[in-house]
Amino acid sequence: DNEVDLLLGRMKTAAAPIRDVLRQIYGRLSQLGEGKVADYIPELAQANPNDFGISLCTVDGQTIEVGDCQKMFTIQSASKPFTYGLAIEDHGCEAVLQKIGVEPTGEAFNSIVLDETSNRPFNPMVNAGAIATADLIKGTDYPDRVKRMLATFARYCGREIFVDNAVFLSERTTGHRNRAMAHLMRNFGMVGDKFEESLELYFQQCSLLVHAHDLAVMGATLANGGINPVTQEQAVSTETVKYILSIMLSCGMYDYAGEWAFRVGLPAKSGVGGGIVAVVPGVLGIGLYSPLLDDKGNSRRGVEACIELSRRFGLHAL
Ligand code: DON
Repeated sequence: DNEVDLLLGRMKTAAAPIRDVLRQIYGRLSQLGEGKVADYIPELAQANPNDFGISLCTVDGQTIEVGDCQKMFTIQSASKPFTYGLAIEDHGCEAVLQKIGVEPTGEAFNSIVLDETSNRPFNPMVNAGAIATADLIKGTDYPDRVKRMLATFARYCGREIFVDNAVFLSERTTGHRNRAMAHLMRNFGMVGDKFEESLELYFQQCSLLVHAHDLAVMGATLANGGINPVTQEQAVSTETVKYILSIMLSCGMYDYAGEWAFRVGLPAKSGVGGGIVAVVPGVLGIGLYSPLLDDKGNSRRGVEACIELSRRFGLHAL
């Protein structure tokens, strides 16, 4: 059918219809019970380990998906590239670079480490960098900043987006490490006077409810130069997309980023909720959901599915 023709035309090697390939991958990886649901935020431990969804959305807005693609979960760190884009649009790239670096850390996502020479967090994909990013979101007051953040995600998803209040409260009452990092960055002037509100903003951003289909549409929006292919709304400028995708490629998968770039070769971002968003520029977005995480905090089935999708369809960027 039409969607398959489109993909066949753009991808290097698609031997079988796309949906069949997704079903095969889904069938094989459903059996993979390894990994562990995140429990360091108590509310995340409620996730169903059997949920698994793979969703593709093309740059002309067609969807191909298998499994639990409408099952809601919290976006967590998969939100980070999108607020980074908003910060760049609010302040310009150079001003953001003054506060947040663009170097991979090779460290865990919650590591308490700043660049010794500049005192900046290493990149916007680790928690410290994401908190500094949240601090850059403009607004007339705190509610307005939250509103602008939510509106950004709504443009990417093409629907209204809401915070899971239980997860948000769970994050903010247990987020001592994030608070400590925010204070450390306040000491170095990397965040401003309103940093406590920025922390709240960060906790809200992590607690946004999405499903795998949303992540595919968000990825497709980036693949499509910033225009949501379903609604045709411009979510972000084409120039900013370039910066977002670069940071996703180098830093999006925590301390697995190097091996990810090697094996999958696509800009992507994972979250401890079990979501992964990946981007094939000019072609499609990929949204994955399975809450069973590996020891680096990436969705185990999600990573395996991307390795296989990349291999089967020749999606590696290089
Ligand atoms: O800051 C936290 O602890 C989380 N809300 C960040 C979530 C996340 O996904 C980071 N790593 N996977």
